[in-house]
Amino acid sequence: MSKKNIVVLFGGQSSEHEISCISAATIIKNMDHDKYTVYPVGITKEGNWRLHEGTVDDLPEDKWVKGSVKAFLSPDATEKALYVFREDGMSKVTVDVVFPALHGLYGEDGSVQGLLELAQIPYVGCGILASSVSMDKLYTKIIVEKLGIRQAKHVPVNQKEMENIKDVVAKIEKELPYPVFVKPSNTGSSKGVTKAHSRGELFDGLEFAIKFDTKIVVEEAIVGREIECAVLGNYHPRASNVGEIIAAAEFYDYDSKYNDKGSETLINPDLPKETVKKLREYSTDIFRAVDGRGLARVDFFVEEATGEVVFNEINTLPGFTSISMYPILWEDKGISIKELVERLIQFAYTK
Ligand SMILES: Nc1ncnc2c1ncn2[C@@H]1O[C@H](COP(=O)(O)OP(=O)(O)O)[C@@H](O)[C@H]1O
Ligand SMILES: [Mg+2]
Repeated sequence: MSKKNIVVLFGGQSSEHEISCISAATIIKNMDHDKYTVYPVGITKEGNWRLHEGTVDDLPEDKWVKGSVKAFLSPDATEKALYVFREDGMSKVTVDVVFPALHGLYGEDGSVQGLLELAQIPYVGCGILASSVSMDKLYTKIIVEKLGIRQAKHVPVNQKEMENIKDVVAKIEKELPYPVFVKPSNTGSSKGVTKAHSRGELFDGLEFAIKFDTKIVVEEAIVGREIECAVLGNYHPRASNVGEIIAAAEFYDYDSKYNDKGSETLINPDLPKETVKKLREYSTDIFRAVDGRGLARVDFFVEEATGEVVFNEINTLPGFTSISMYPILWEDKGISIKELVERLIQFAYTK
């Protein structure tokens, strides 16, 4: 069997650029190099596409940028090609499959998936629709509401309404008690997310969130535990067991996610069997409802006072570092990272 050419896209123009470089390094290290010739294509924060021809250890901290060469995927479906521009001229590589190891905007939101659909190149993970609705917290809510799964009560706010922020605050105060969570609708890594305990903090949180997106979601604060579940597959997705996030800060903000070593993940936390069953069922139900493919991590709260399951968000390209919840949850089910990467690539080809 001849080797397949696989392009791994990483970096990207989102606030999760750094974490994507680490995810890609883990994915590439765990690929079957007898089966695939890997072309790691990094996208700089400015949006420049570069083929990295050095070692995978150069992926973190953008060490890959130096020495990389200009390269990009053609949208032309008759070519299915990666164009590479070295000093001695341009060359083309035929691409069999793409692994978009991109998190956040311009990667997890359907934009790259759109390019790959145009090019008709098989790719790992969710398509355009699932990617974009899952990235947008307001639209995810609309879909999950149909399933009757509980979510935090929320108030949507758009850019136009923000011209009269006093009215926005009045509308929110009518609906929700403090504290509230203020989030840009399209965000990841907690960027732009704040917890407002008072009117003053709500004003500040709204002004801050609107810098990241044209839509904001303001939510009631759920007091409880943060539980996540991994989903793998296409039309018959499988749910892992669950894992708990124990945040080092007041909530799981950007710093506690990536900088604070005090945050912990706990696999198979102590929870009633019935609750775990619900979490797993809801995860695959939500994955199907958004038309998911390949993989996703579905995040919930288990409310302290009632023990009820409350859906928070779905991530269609979850963190994939060796300490990320997604691969760890599958390892717990007996699927090594190597096997997981291979299965994900296979799901790009199968229904
Ligand atoms: N309604 C809420 N109640 C309690 N905590 C919340 C709520 N919404 C968000 N959080 C906290 O903020 C973190 C980031 O919010 P999240 O919606 O997951 O955004 P992101 O997409 O950036 O991860 C969560 O992991 C959680 O700790
Ligand atoms: Mg989150």
